[in-house]
Amino acid sequence: ITLSEEELCEIYETGIQLAKECGHMIKECFYRDKKVTTKASYADLVTETDQNVEKFFTKEIKKHYPGHSVIGEETTADGKKIEFTNNPTWIIDPIDGTTNFVHRIPYTCISIGLTVNKEPVIGIVYNPITDVFFKARKGHGAFCNDKKIAVTGLEEIESAMFIMEFGSNREPDKMAVKFRNLFNLNKASHGLRAYGSAALNMCNVAQGEEDGYAEHGIHCWDIAAGAVIVEEAGGVVIDPSGDKFDLMSRKVLVASSMPLALKMSALLEDPGFERD
Ligand code: IPD
Ligand code: CA
Ligand code: CA
Ligand code: CA
Repeated sequence: ITLSEEELCEIYETGIQLAKECGHMIKECFYRDKKVTTKASYADLVTETDQNVEKFFTKEIKKHYPGHSVIGEETTADGKKIEFTNNPTWIIDPIDGTTNFVHRIPYTCISIGLTVNKEPVIGIVYNPITDVFFKARKGHGAFCNDKKIAVTGLEEIESAMFIMEFGSNREPDKMAVKFRNLFNLNKASHGLRAYGSAALNMCNVAQGEEDGYAEHGIHCWDIAAGAVIVEEAGGVVIDPSGDKFDLMSRKVLVASSMPLALKMSALLEDPGFERD
């Protein structure tokens, strides 16, 4: 499948417009009482707003681009294999950072990625609470509120600041590996932060606030948009094992430089989440 520059440019603008509309829906509900239900564990939350935003987004895409595919967190059944093709595919997380959303921590966003031939080419991440808007299109740079952004480029692990997350999985053996990884990266560096949104974590590395982020157990909708934004900001996106990045592998490592990415990788064990 080939899309022309004009087509991609128009699709990018549509994605940006939809992100703003979805952001409005999220902000409207942020300070209201929420109907919260749980999914895979008591720490895996979903609200009506997650579902409503995904429904709205999917409906709009089907209207604008009937031939495009949509993969979204809240319409993907747990454990069901995701059908991922070369078709232009919108990979969306209606709310990334649902736990923050539920707790009214203003660190939550909508994440919209577009893949063509399975390659992420457009990334849009919008935090409507703080009104911070990240966007990138392959080959055209990454921006935060229309200002060009770049990674730090840091290579030394001793002076690095990392982001790591605990995630919502509560299986003790998986958690134990995650905690060892946290311990090892913290020991090697200036320290760790955990903000509770994979997409915003990636944008933070892209804009040079932290130097790296890795997580096992995430899904394609957490990272599709962020992958484009990080690469367009000059960063690297790889598999935590050091291999080539695979969107469906349930894991990601981003860093401000390849030397730093490989140093991080050497300190990480894989807790073994099944791929999508
Ligand atoms: C979660 C967030 C969190 C990450 C989890 C994700 P959700 O997404 O990105 O930071 O640690 O792995 O599942 O459920 O809030 O969309
Ligand atoms: Ca979720
Ligand atoms: Ca998410
Ligand atoms: Ca989500």
